[in-house]
Amino acid sequence: MWILMVAVALAIDSSSFVNIEVNREIDLTGHYTSVINNIRLENKLQSTVSKYFHAMYKDNVDKLSNIRAYLKDEPHNLLKAEFQEFSGDYAIYKVLVPRGITSKSEANLIIYKVLVPRGITSKSEANLIIEEYFAQKMTPFPKKIGIFDQQLMVFSDSIHYPSPYTTEFSTTIVKFPTSEIESYTKPSDVPYDIKGKSLIYGPSTLIKEFSAIKFQVHYQNPKAIPYFTKVVREIEVSHWGNIAVSEWYTLVNRGAEIKGEFSRLDYSNRYKPTAVNALRSLEAILPRMAWGLYYRDEVGNVSTSHARQHSSYVHLEIEPRFPIMGGWKDTFNIGYNLPTKGFLKQKDNTFALNITFGFPFKEIIAEEMIVKVILPEGSKNIQSILPFDVDKSYFTTVSSFLDFNGKQVLVLEKKNVMDFHRKHFQVVYEAQVNDLIIKPLILSFYVFALLLILIISFRLDLGLEKEVKVKKE
Ligand SMILES: *[C@@H]1O[C@H](CO)[C@@H](O)[C@H](O)[C@H]1NC(C)=O
Ligand SMILES: *[C@@H]1O[C@H](CO)[C@@H](O)[C@H](O)[C@H]1NC(C)=O
Repeated sequence: MWILMVAVALAIDSSSFVNIEVNREIDLTGHYTSVINNIRLENKLQSTVSKYFHAMYKDNVDKLSNIRAYLKDEPHNLLKAEFQEFSGDYAIYKVLVPRGITSKSEANLIIYKVLVPRGITSKSEANLIIEEYFAQKMTPFPKKIGIFDQQLMVFSDSIHYPSPYTTEFSTTIVKFPTSEIESYTKPSDVPYDIKGKSLIYGPSTLIKEFSAIKFQVHYQNPKAIPYFTKVVREIEVSHWGNIAVSEWYTLVNRGAEIKGEFSRLDYSNRYKPTAVNALRSLEAILPRMAWGLYYRDEVGNVSTSHARQHSSYVHLEIEPRFPIMGGWKDTFNIGYNLPTKGFLKQKDNTFALNITFGFPFKEIIAEEMIVKVILPEGSKNIQSILPFDVDKSYFTTVSSFLDFNGKQVLVLEKKNVMDFHRKHFQVVYEAQVNDLIIKPLILSFYVFALLLILIISFRLDLGLEKEVKVKKE
């Protein structure tokens, strides 16, 4: 009875919109997959509707790094896209999905609810963009390759936009890194065409709701597939004019693994391209004011890094000691300093730190990211203002030289961090400016005490030496 009620409720929603035209663009050229759904829709009801339901295959959910929705005319005004809980029982969709489903697993759709605050008025159209970013949806196949082999990937998804609404007209474009496409699904009832580095499915007309026809592609990708399994970004604020940034990275190349033993000799073959999917360098964009840059790995300082200062940023290129072959891991640490000017504002006893959340390497997903903001000792009433949700937020303390009670550390944890998260966030806190004077006092006290000890011991020493001399005489 309950299941039936939900089904009925959702069925009503299914008739509220019709997708007049959907253009999907699936981009496989980068390190992760991006899917841009450009939807022109019409509200079929007699009233204003403010919820649009977006369907996604259940097996895509774990891979979803980010979902963004906005009206085409207002790209900066992001709409809320929320996971719609339906008792967690996916079976209800089977009640709703009588057509187009070829297997049980394909009926496993989940729904996101996109909220348009001002609503879409009766019988009017809107142009909605829903962007999805997926990690690890492209997998190397074969999983292992020789050092002179090409890397091939497989990818599969739905040909149509799997909407809970009817779609009148739709095309899907798949973009590849090269024009070397080994194979692709050739459906009997959907037109398809290859144009250069793109595969086009459609145009198709009158697609039923929840339509599910899968396609699979097998194609060349001559690139490394870098992921960060973990990133720790530590930002230490000092009221003496400096912000120290240190970042620890665990990098893995998820490209095809190398078959057999790695041979340096083969790798440095001068006549053939070798290890096409090896990661040779990484690039980062740091703030213009960054100074005292370092790049270290487990062995120590790596000298093969280049930093160039531009008018508005510092371009850092790091080269690991060894090329990171498919399946290989690397851990490294970079760090730099920033002047507080431009990043820390003070008004009386209130300070506001304004700095980026994300890490500076482009186009790489960090599966786990931890941001730690270490504030000067005695900071209180600490608040953070974030441009997006984080998974965890808590405080700890850390003690260092000359600290009485330890410093407050704000810890923020977030999964699947990517380019979008390289946004500014603020940490507002209070600190007694008088506290500033305490440290130099402690320091001078220590120095004074040290000198005193030295003086006393020198006197004693001299005394002893004299005694010895006396005895010898
Ligand atoms: C580390 O290497 C860089 C070159 O990339 C060099 O400029 C720097 O002085 C080195 N630092 C140390 C501590 O050896
Ligand atoms: C933080 O800094 C950025 C870049 O300088 C700036 O665009 C933004 O307005 C600042 N935010 C706040 C709240 O001060």
